[in-house]
Amino acid sequence: MVTVLVGTQWGDEGKGKIVDYLAEEADIVARYQGGANAGHTVFVGERKHVFHLVPSGILHPDKICVIGNGVVVDPVCLAEEVETLEKNGVSVRGRLLIAENAHVTLEYHKLLDRVEEKQKGNGAIGTTGRGIGTTYVDKYSRIGIRVSDFLDEVVFREKLRQALEIKNYLLKTYYGQKPLDFSVLEAESSGLRDFIRPMATDVASYLNQAIKKGKNVLAEGAQGTFLDVDFGTYPYVTASNPISGGACTGLGLPPHLISRVIGVAKAYTTRVGEGPFPTELHGDLAERLRNAGSEFGATTGRPRRCGWFDAVLVRYACRLNGCHEIVITKLDILSGLEKIRVAVAYRHGQSLITEYPLHTRTFREALPIYEEMEGWPDDLSRVRTWQDLPGAARRYLRRIEELVETPIKLVSVGVGRKDILSRQC
Ligand code: GDP
Ligand code: IMO
Ligand code: MG
Repeated sequence: MVTVLVGTQWGDEGKGKIVDYLAEEADIVARYQGGANAGHTVFVGERKHVFHLVPSGILHPDKICVIGNGVVVDPVCLAEEVETLEKNGVSVRGRLLIAENAHVTLEYHKLLDRVEEKQKGNGAIGTTGRGIGTTYVDKYSRIGIRVSDFLDEVVFREKLRQALEIKNYLLKTYYGQKPLDFSVLEAESSGLRDFIRPMATDVASYLNQAIKKGKNVLAEGAQGTFLDVDFGTYPYVTASNPISGGACTGLGLPPHLISRVIGVAKAYTTRVGEGPFPTELHGDLAERLRNAGSEFGATTGRPRRCGWFDAVLVRYACRLNGCHEIVITKLDILSGLEKIRVAVAYRHGQSLITEYPLHTRTFREALPIYEEMEGWPDDLSRVRTWQDLPGAARRYLRRIEELVETPIKLVSVGVGRKDILSRQC
């Protein structure tokens, strides 16, 4: 059985924390797209772990974790991440597998990502600078380097030479940068070969065989639905498909094996980087949410833009992903607000829009129509059952459920592993 967990907003919904919680029921936890642009935070007691490439399930010592073919793998970043985890007492080696057909992110991808952004000036996307888009570009241009190529010294050298010829031409003549040195990149990569080699395998076959034997797989989405390259707020998106369908192509799983899709939504909305955000708040209220929710990027440290919950977006996300249920995170952050707003539709010129418009300009110009609800003063951090939630918080959740047409099964009320309540309680 395969469960897919997806972000229903613009990322940072708290997916890492929920994966850590749900990993109990899984045998294997698998990332299927994105790369080191992800920043998934999990607290175990006082210890904070931030995952970029390693699935958040690794904190459970009996789980196998998998990086699928749909992920772009930065070997330097992965080595650092594994080293940090092992320093913190988390054993990774022997429990982490990497698809040999996943593409690798190298130095020129990261450099090009940064200089492309600089060149765009006001039109910049606000990427994480982790070389994500530039690696996927090479994948689709069919000049990418896969894990299996990375491990083959002869093939790697040839592919690196070919790639650098083009990249250095671009860097020098178009971006006015210093060209990258073949031998430096070659040496850096060969130093990482022995680290990657024992983990590289045919992940799709591994997973399909494991599932046949009755193992449960939890697929951990990175980013969020509105950063999806096809359905997000293009061009202000990432370069992969975070939506649940991405788990099929990103892990090599047939669609019929996915039996459960869980959407994660924050009780309000955040976005890092540029792009339209109809319910964005400015001023004191935005600051309050940002500070209370520690809304600073886990990968880049950038302040996250904050705003009200947008039910139009999350409803669309639930449909697109086929969410059977959703998890609401960070409800505790709304405590103390007198009034809470939820966007239920948009106004665009004279028209009323009730569905997320794929047309970029329409979405940029859309003005939210809000419903206002009573807030609650209570601290939620110790609430462990649905019945113990303040009435106003329950009404807020029920209204969200109604608007997004999907049941809420879990509600998270703090960063800790125990700060979560299940609807059945
Ligand atoms: P992800 O990228 O979706 O995994 O989310 P991030 O880890 O980037 O951001 C979510 C942040 O919110 C992390 O710092 C989590 O520790 C924190 N978090 C998750 N759930 C809750 C919650 O219910 N309450 C509070 N206060 N913080 C939470
Ligand atoms: P997690 O998995 C939030 C955003 C960037 C930028 C856009 C493109 O932690 O939810 P990229 O580097 O991917 O080319 O940047 O996507 N972005 C994220 N925003 N959470 C993430 O991941 C993100 N990964 C990328 O800020 O706007
Ligand atoms: Mg994050």
